[in-house]
Amino acid sequence: MMRKLISVVFVIAFQFLQAQNLQITSPDEKIAISFQLDEGVPFYNVSRSGTEIIKKSKLGFIIKDQKPLDSNFKIESHEINSFDETWTQVWGEEKNIRNHFNQLKVSLTDDSSPKRKLNIFFRAYDDGIAFRYEIPEQESFNNFEIMDEITEFVLTGNYSSWWIKAYQWNRYEYLYQNSPLDGIDTVHTPFTVEVNDSLYLSFHEAALVDYSSLTLENMGNHVLKANLVPWSDGTKVKASAPMKSPWRTVQISETPGGLITSYLILNLNEPNKLDDISWIKPQKYIGIWWEMHINKSTWASGEKHGATTENTKRYIDFAAKHGFDGVLVEGWNEGWDGDWTANGEIFSFTKSYPDFNLDEVTDYAASKGVKLIGHHETGAAVLNYEKQMEDAFALYHKHGVNTVKTGYVGWGQNIKRVDEEGNIQKEWHHGQFMVRHYQKVVETAAKYHIMIDAHEPIKDTGLRRTWPNFMTREGARGQEYDAWSDDGGNPPDHTTIIPFTRLLSGPMDFTPGIFDILFEDDPPVDNRVNTTLAKQLAHYVVLYSPLQMSADLPENYEANLGAFKFIKDVPVDWEFTRVPNAKIGDYITIVRKDRSSEDWYLGSITDENARNLKVKLDFLTPGKKYTAEIYKDGANADWKTNPLEIEITSQIVDSNTEMELKLAPGGGQAIRFSPAK
Ligand code: NOJ
Repeated sequence: MMRKLISVVFVIAFQFLQAQNLQITSPDEKIAISFQLDEGVPFYNVSRSGTEIIKKSKLGFIIKDQKPLDSNFKIESHEINSFDETWTQVWGEEKNIRNHFNQLKVSLTDDSSPKRKLNIFFRAYDDGIAFRYEIPEQESFNNFEIMDEITEFVLTGNYSSWWIKAYQWNRYEYLYQNSPLDGIDTVHTPFTVEVNDSLYLSFHEAALVDYSSLTLENMGNHVLKANLVPWSDGTKVKASAPMKSPWRTVQISETPGGLITSYLILNLNEPNKLDDISWIKPQKYIGIWWEMHINKSTWASGEKHGATTENTKRYIDFAAKHGFDGVLVEGWNEGWDGDWTANGEIFSFTKSYPDFNLDEVTDYAASKGVKLIGHHETGAAVLNYEKQMEDAFALYHKHGVNTVKTGYVGWGQNIKRVDEEGNIQKEWHHGQFMVRHYQKVVETAAKYHIMIDAHEPIKDTGLRRTWPNFMTREGARGQEYDAWSDDGGNPPDHTTIIPFTRLLSGPMDFTPGIFDILFEDDPPVDNRVNTTLAKQLAHYVVLYSPLQMSADLPENYEANLGAFKFIKDVPVDWEFTRVPNAKIGDYITIVRKDRSSEDWYLGSITDENARNLKVKLDFLTPGKKYTAEIYKDGANADWKTNPLEIEITSQIVDSNTEMELKLAPGGGQAIRFSPAK
């Protein structure tokens, strides 16, 4: 279903433009972006339905050993285009996505010698705006170092916002804070703001390729400024013309749910670059994983070693019996002994521990119709990984492994790089050096027909559209924090915040599905999971990922096959996604339609407060009866005192039904709707 591209181009002589305020509006004409040169300095502003959202905000760069590229400009020309196309995702949360925008390209020239050229592209969509810089090929401006990007977002008030601090030792793995704008630090994106109860904004970037990642610095007076993660030498971006920056994006919605069903970030990325995509498949998986996190077994070799041939076969049997596609095995390869978080240099990605036989395990998996999911934990020793990367992916490919989970555990600005003089420099996880690395991994993996699930990743900026083997990532506090975090794990409101922050960037490998919520038989510390059991099920719908783990131990599922049925049934590839109700940090309900059947699924979760939410089933096909299989918190369920009580019932419904969802404190509800027989 492709729509026609309509393109109208205006090129107007610059004399006429000097006085002009260039403007485009969104296709529905609600959102307007204006560009102006004020005495040679470039500015933009944004309004919606006549109300200013972003006030006059600066644009430009500071370039090393050159005059700043932020003033003294003249407009050479401008072009306005319209674009309208509907494209199909290889996999995703919505099958067909409409990419409909108006674009303004402004071509600027620095009015003094050497007359450097800078183009700025603005796009207005119905669900937000975006802009990017282009430094086109030009004679006297080839190789350069960006010392600062001075992009500003000047907001109009001291609004409530959700954020995590940038430049911290533990990367993106922090609990989100909610404060007025004037209380924020330098923050990661997506950064989400509630202007009022009918206007929500989220700031992020799209198509982060060979550039450093964007954080936002609080300059006071509601001014946010781009703060690019620097190289160890202080440079922000090492570039050569032609250069395109990532898109700077602002998603704009009347409801919090509208941020989730906005596909602006994906629309700003290039289409799929892979010719053959037959090997790319969303999947559910189990793994030798949680048992290490709760200290029942170890990654390291020895008596408690988890990744043995025998244990892996046990997981393979379970996966085959219950229809899982993959079995993740962590700790099979040499290098885990001692403090692997500090000694990543000794990881081998091809040599297994003596009690793990890769041939035997992968043959066994194949005989059962299951695939091993490989693991490359680097301990952030990226040079060691890069040396072995080709061999590592080739080995997995040879054994029929088509998914690899990567890992970059390492603290702060500590990633070693060898500079031009042969000296070791230390880089951040999120600077240009690592952006290049993550890109190299996904492209190398594609060569070997391998899908990637990156933990400790670079944030998603929609590159899954271009590289659909970049399936999912961690990039926030996942469920593992409940196993060992000394702050007691993720509080009940955590998963009512991340759909509006971290997950706006893309899918997350949160690893839901813990049934033994208290894991009292295997206690490493006093930890537990801070949800009810029904909420664990609801996470499969709320927290989108095309690779979805069933994270608990096989024996804990065998002990509750009734509730486990929901995890077995729930799909990982969707045709539609809708958000019937949501309040950031309080509750959220998401419904999604399976891409390969007529089934719909609902997930609804709350924070620490009990709630009764009403949902109209008007998403169901009118005139059709559906069986609703309901997994809800029991009458006395409570995440703190009674987390396991769950009630599984069924009822016949149709598109006129209004359901009441009764959620316990820290609870949730999961429903499968399938056409009634
Ligand atoms: C951190 C990852 O998030 C986790 O999933 C993994 O088990 C460990 N690193 C070890 O690689």
